[in-house]
Order: sequence, then C-alpha cells, then structure tokens
Amino acid sequence: MRIDILTIFPEMFEGPFNHSIIKRAQNKNLVEIYLHNIRDYSKSKHKNVDDYPYGGGSGMVMMIQPIADCIDELCKERIYDEIIYTSPDGNQLNQKMANHISGFNNIIILCGHYKGIDERIREHYITKEISIGDYVLSGGELAASIIVDSITRLIPGVLNDETSALSDSFQDDLISPPVYTRPAQFKGWNVPSILLSGNEKEIIKWQYEKAIERTEKRRPNLLNRD
Ligand code: ADE
Repeated sequence: MRIDILTIFPEMFEGPFNHSIIKRAQNKNLVEIYLHNIRDYSKSKHKNVDDYPYGGGSGMVMMIQPIADCIDELCKERIYDEIIYTSPDGNQLNQKMANHISGFNNIIILCGHYKGIDERIREHYITKEISIGDYVLSGGELAASIIVDSITRLIPGVLNDETSALSDSFQDDLISPPVYTRPAQFKGWNVPSILLSGNEKEIIKWQYEKAIERTEKRRPNLLNRD
C-alpha cells in the first residue's frame, strides 16, 4: 500500500513512523509512506500556505493552490482509491473503516491546519473526511498518524502472528478479554486459574465470556450495532 501525506509539518511524523510496527511494515515494503511538504508547492513569493478568510473572521485558511498542485501532481502518476482529509467534521474513525481502508492500494491523506482549508479542496478533491474523535486538535498530523497506524497493522504480513490483528478489540465488536503473563502470583494477586489449566476449550469459552462481560459493562453500544 502506498500512502502520500500532505502536511506543513512533515517532521511531526518522524516519531510515529520510525518505530515499531509501522517501521517494520515499511522495511518489509508492505507499506510505502511519502511525506509532502505543502509549502514546497506554494507559488507565492514567501511560500505562504495560508491566507485570511474571505468575509472576515478569526484564523487563517489553508490556500487552495499549493494543495491542489500537490494533489494534481500525485494523481498524474497513479490512481488513488481515496483522498482523505483529517477533520473534526468527518466520520469518526472506527475499526470497520480501518479494515476497509487497509485494503486499498493508494491513498492520500491531507492534514488540515489553522481554521481549515479552502472549501473548494473539499468539494473537488477530497473523497473522505475522517475525524479521530469529538475534540479539536491543533492540526491533522496526529490524526493522520493514528489513521496510518490503525490501517498498517491490518495489512497482511505486517504482524507476525496474523491472527493477532483479528483478535484485536472491536474486530468482532467486542472489547478484548483481560490478559496476563508471568508470574502467576504477585503481591497475592493471582492469575485466573482457568488460564493455567491448559484446557484450551475452557480457556476460549472463558475469554469469550469475559469479552462479553467487559463490553456490556464498558461499551454496551457496541453490542447493539447492526
Ligand atoms: N483535526 C483537528 N481535530 C481533528 C480531529 N478530531 N480528527 C481529525 N482531524 C482533526
């Protein structure tokens, strides 16, 4: 999968993309991530990427020209399955959406900033707007990192144990059951004896019951989804 990210802060991705699973996925060539600095596409004398909003009001708006030129250039090279804009107004990211996007070949993610982007970009280029939650971030970079992380780990071959992504919380609309590791006793707190029993059938049953119990208690809305 190829992911092109348009941002005014490419450095913000150095941490998230150079460690752990995303790094491994890139090393295995299962995902290619390209960062494009929107400022490099600005045709204005001072390389501006934002301007005052028409009609007045506070804050600055990201200009159409640098973003449009960058997207046009990318689209000349290949067909994109989706051009995503990170925005608190978008549909909220969930596991189903991550599963869907992880099946694509090429996507663009545009990170918003300031008061927003010129509406004509949304009208004429953006095919999907994604929010990571009902709160406002300073910019779309953190949201883009989260989207990339959630989809990369689902690409076949990225995780060593492929079943491990399938058993994530939310994959079956259930929260994961509790997990434990050694030692079996610590400060008098014991690991549930069933997990030490070696009875695989009973363990799976126990894990399923715990997943249901947790979901009912913490996220009952997940059980009522169609
Ligand atoms: N940009 C600012 N806030 C955001 C959010 N909640 N989700 C995605 N992008 C954003």
